[in-house]
Amino acid sequence: MSGPGTLSGRVAIVTGGTRGIGRAVAERFAQEGCDLAICSRSLPALEETAREIGRRYDVKVLPREADILKRVDIERLVGDTGAKLGRVDILVNNAGGSEQRAASGSRRQVYAVDPVSGPLPPGRFEEMVDEEFVNAFNQKVLALVYAMRAVLPWMRKAGGGAIVNVVSMKGKQPPPRVVSSSIAAAAAMNLSKSLSLEVAADNIRVNVIALESIVTSQTEKSRARWAPEKSMEEFLAPRNANIPMGRLGTAEEAAHAVYCLCAPQGAYITGQVLSVDGGGMRGW
Ligand SMILES: NC(=O)c1ccc[n+]([C@@H]2O[C@H](COP(=O)([O-])OP(=O)(O)OC[C@H]3O[C@@H](n4cnc5c(N)ncnc54)[C@H](OP(=O)(O)O)[C@@H]3O)[C@@H](O)[C@H]2O)c1
Repeated sequence: MSGPGTLSGRVAIVTGGTRGIGRAVAERFAQEGCDLAICSRSLPALEETAREIGRRYDVKVLPREADILKRVDIERLVGDTGAKLGRVDILVNNAGGSEQRAASGSRRQVYAVDPVSGPLPPGRFEEMVDEEFVNAFNQKVLALVYAMRAVLPWMRKAGGGAIVNVVSMKGKQPPPRVVSSSIAAAAAMNLSKSLSLEVAADNIRVNVIALESIVTSQTEKSRARWAPEKSMEEFLAPRNANIPMGRLGTAEEAAHAVYCLCAPQGAYITGQVLSVDGGGMRGW
């Protein structure tokens, strides 16, 4: 750090901080002098990430193994953060994955930016099992509830706070065949709006980042699974064609949007959904 940043003296919790967007958010906050707690299910990755970020930006980084689907893990993460770092000002609910299951005969994924006309892979609504709905709900609704419920007392004690829930743009623009994750993202948006109204008087803000097509480890996983015979460039070409900006976004670009919603300069923004999607949303 070359001087005090805009988040100096603040403490943030970033779930899923070891790679992808969560890692980029952790770095962006650290760049601004913010102390951090990061969690994931892999302790070695957490410890390495904490060491690297702490050394690079001269901030405290607390690595904590926690599964966001387990309430006790999340309560322990928040309690430890408050006890060890002294306060909690920011929560970024980022952890999660977008596992799109194949239907019989299906050979490609669908995205929120896909055109509404044109050939679709075979449908699968009738094939979806109850667990897919339950898993999506647990990941994008219940896990958010656990973390937000646990941080609110700390934020009130600190005189305010900022929460950002990271979900898919599918919550606003649902494509066919992935109805479980689309409705979970929509529910997360509704949950965030509702809570933002309840806690605004405590100077606590709740916003959502709605993502589509950000390059992370998920992108390579998808290529390997859905089109192992193609290069990354070939795999992305049809998708890029449906994105007005003609390319996928970077984790750093997504992280900057998260930062803007958490920064002191964003103090009057609450209850909003900000899409980071290269213009892919066909509406507001
Ligand atoms: N990339 C996109 O275009 C895109 C689009 C829409 C939505 N999103 C959302 O953005 C978020 C980040 O995605 P990403 O692309 O950056 O994914 P990623 O590269 O796979 O990173 C996911 C992070 O979350 C952690 N994680 C996953 N499940 C967890 C759990 N149950 N408990 C604790 N930590 C967990 C992972 O660590 P471990 O696996 O070691 O636990 C990792 O640190 C996700 O919520 C995803 O749904 C991304």
